[in-house]
Amino acid sequence: MKNLDWIEQRGGLERAAAAIAPAVRALFAKGGAGRVAFTAQEAVAAGDASALGIGETAGLEEVYAALQKAAQDGARPRAVHVAGVGAFAVSAQADKAGTRLAGRIALVTGGAQGFGEGIARELAAAGATVVVADLNLALAEQVAAALDAAHGAGTAAAMKVDVGDETSVEALVRGIVLRFGGLDLLVSNAGVLRAGGLEEMTLKDFEFVTRINYTAFFLMTKYAARPMKIQARFDPDRTGDIVQINSKSGLEGSNKNFAYAGGKFGGIGLVQSFAKELVEHRIKVNAICPGNYYEGPLWSDPVKGLFVQYLKAGKVPGAKTVQDVYDFYVAKVPMRRGCSPADVAKAIAYCVEQTYETGQAIPVTGGQNMLK
Ligand SMILES: NC(=O)c1ccc[n+]([C@@H]2O[C@H](COP(=O)([O-])OP(=O)(O)OC[C@H]3O[C@@H](n4cnc5c(N)ncnc54)[C@H](O)[C@@H]3O)[C@@H](O)[C@H]2O)c1
Repeated sequence: MKNLDWIEQRGGLERAAAAIAPAVRALFAKGGAGRVAFTAQEAVAAGDASALGIGETAGLEEVYAALQKAAQDGARPRAVHVAGVGAFAVSAQADKAGTRLAGRIALVTGGAQGFGEGIARELAAAGATVVVADLNLALAEQVAAALDAAHGAGTAAAMKVDVGDETSVEALVRGIVLRFGGLDLLVSNAGVLRAGGLEEMTLKDFEFVTRINYTAFFLMTKYAARPMKIQARFDPDRTGDIVQINSKSGLEGSNKNFAYAGGKFGGIGLVQSFAKELVEHRIKVNAICPGNYYEGPLWSDPVKGLFVQYLKAGKVPGAKTVQDVYDFYVAKVPMRRGCSPADVAKAIAYCVEQTYETGQAIPVTGGQNMLK
């Protein structure tokens, strides 16, 4: 009888399971649109030929070795049972062959509205399984339900997260891994804006913006990279992708909006540094720097949108209507329109498909920002 203390040492059953599931997925749901779901149930039925049983082990590496050996021996189990941990059900997803992101498990933070909601929609249409994660769970659930209705049950799941809270971020990633078996694409999109010049900006607001736009990207990457590393270790064909939704304000300073611009500039420093650290795990890290999404709620909300706020604050000289403010901003864009989630989603698809680039910040601004 072996000592199963290693499970407790790894932080308990679920954390141990979260370290095993991506290996099961990488080895036994290879290449296809497979998923792996964890249940803390006891042993699989004796004599079940479709199940693989791994007896008591002294540690995670021993579990990995047993899984790898079974895979080399040609095992294709529909369930894997690991003594002291539980069962991992391996399932094939409905065939979405031909779609760009078929079989990828994607996480979009701030996916309940705005760019995140549009990105989630585009990723689902491209064949991905999409986790819509947001502080606003009720709205995230509506988005996930709409994606399921459009693309089939099981396409999307809503999960609650506060990206600025480490416990919440760790629990989110663990929840995704236990439910789907891994993670292939993180779109770190949740962000906040508190504009204001030096005289107006409070330390509290500055720190809030920095925590959500900058620090949270570190937290998301720290935890999302874990299952990606395990997948890459056990499947040489797999790459992981981390994409930060940055901003054109991460490429050029923004007047009386320094808390936002500073955090976004910093985000590009993190992207470049994470790209260098994670390249050996075949995880690419890139930023997308969109122009303004004028049709989205941040700008167009009839009560608290930026157009209304800027009109009231007299920020645009001579503007008498919301339309005047809109025209003023659109005139700054060579392509004479705002950025859309579909524009951003094309850049995300490029990041995923391009396997020879990492650490980049890609502007999607209709020509408003050009790289130097
Ligand atoms: N809207 C634009 O014009 C624009 C332009 C360039 C870049 N961006 C960037 O795009 C991203 C999305 O912006 P948007 O305009 O769609 O925002 P939005 O305000 O419309 O939506 C943001 C979403 O994030 C969620 N959220 C906020 N704080 C969170 C937290 N702590 N944890 C989890 N979820 C949280 C909100 O509930 C909301 O659903 C941001 O990173 C933003 O900086 C936006």
